[in-house]
Amino acid sequence: MKEVLKLEQSLQQAQELLAQIPPLLLTWYDHSARILPWRQQPTPYRVWVSEIMLQQTRVSAVMPYYERFLSALPTVGALADAPEEVLLKLWEGLGYYNRVRNMQKAARAVMEQHGGELPASFEELVKLPGIGEYTAGAVASIAYGLRVPAVDGNVLRILSRWLLSRADVTMPPVKRAYQALVQQMLPAERVGDFNQALMELGATVCLPNGDPLCESCPVAGLCRARERGCAAELPVKAPKKPRREEKRTILLVVSEGKVLLTKRPANGLLAGLWEYLNLEGHLSAQEAAAHCGVPVSSVRRLGAAKHIFSHIEWKMRGYLIQVSGFTPQGECVWADQLQFEEQYSVPSAFQQYTKLLRQYWEDQR
Ligand code: ADE
Repeated sequence: MKEVLKLEQSLQQAQELLAQIPPLLLTWYDHSARILPWRQQPTPYRVWVSEIMLQQTRVSAVMPYYERFLSALPTVGALADAPEEVLLKLWEGLGYYNRVRNMQKAARAVMEQHGGELPASFEELVKLPGIGEYTAGAVASIAYGLRVPAVDGNVLRILSRWLLSRADVTMPPVKRAYQALVQQMLPAERVGDFNQALMELGATVCLPNGDPLCESCPVAGLCRARERGCAAELPVKAPKKPRREEKRTILLVVSEGKVLLTKRPANGLLAGLWEYLNLEGHLSAQEAAAHCGVPVSSVRRLGAAKHIFSHIEWKMRGYLIQVSGFTPQGECVWADQLQFEEQYSVPSAFQQYTKLLRQYWEDQR
């Protein structure tokens, strides 16, 4: 709490300093901003899709998905009506699939309650599924020019450094103080560009993990952390709870050029996506196959892989199992390569094994 009070005091003292920043930042943004597809035509729908994709995902990873998604689903109405399998296929590999499910729920609400147009109001946007304060602020300011802040982790890092504040940015009062601060700093015009300039500075210059590129920063001369040489130590964040580790055994069960896929339950982690047979624990191929009732004709060891989710880490080992004349129980399909590529969404948690499966198909030709 002491650091929050210090932050409040330092905010009052910093007004003059902060007032100098917006013009510097906007001029820098005009010269240095990356050319990104959602910046070319910042319609509300395009900005919204970009902001949801960019949550927990880097710009470079989003790029191949963005235009493909918009070509397939060019309007809020198209998103609202899209079959779930199409939606998941468009998102396959981006992870955090609830983002796209919530986007569809929000699209349906926009069709029913707002005549198909995303509302030009922060308060209405933030009521929609999957739209938090940051995303509502980004859409409202970038697409509609409304005077609202958009404060994400990048912006918290930048402000902690400018003000040399050691207040823990994971604490809600600290975040609120910074939101109020950005609200005050917003220029009279070009609010969306100002918010994007902050994001851009965080993504390209004021980098996390002890790596800021202060020599390229337009605000270096005003930055208190830079002056003291301690930018790399900020922001202060309470340590996260360690991830739970889960061991899993993955079985690529193949028969006559087809792979066996099962559907995950409708709720929970990776809900409704397709996956290879898999079980908790590190089992031998024989143990795992017996558990699933799979008759083994031949086995190949596929090695280990891991995948990090937000709260869990999977430590996997896998086997390729050839079977013949096996009829599985439950919600399962045998998919040939074409069906696998075009129809079924298998999460990137399994991507090592998906690569090996493609290699298997390649070797079969
Ligand atoms: N991260 C989230 N939104 C962004 C945007 N509009 N530009 C750059 N990085 C971002």
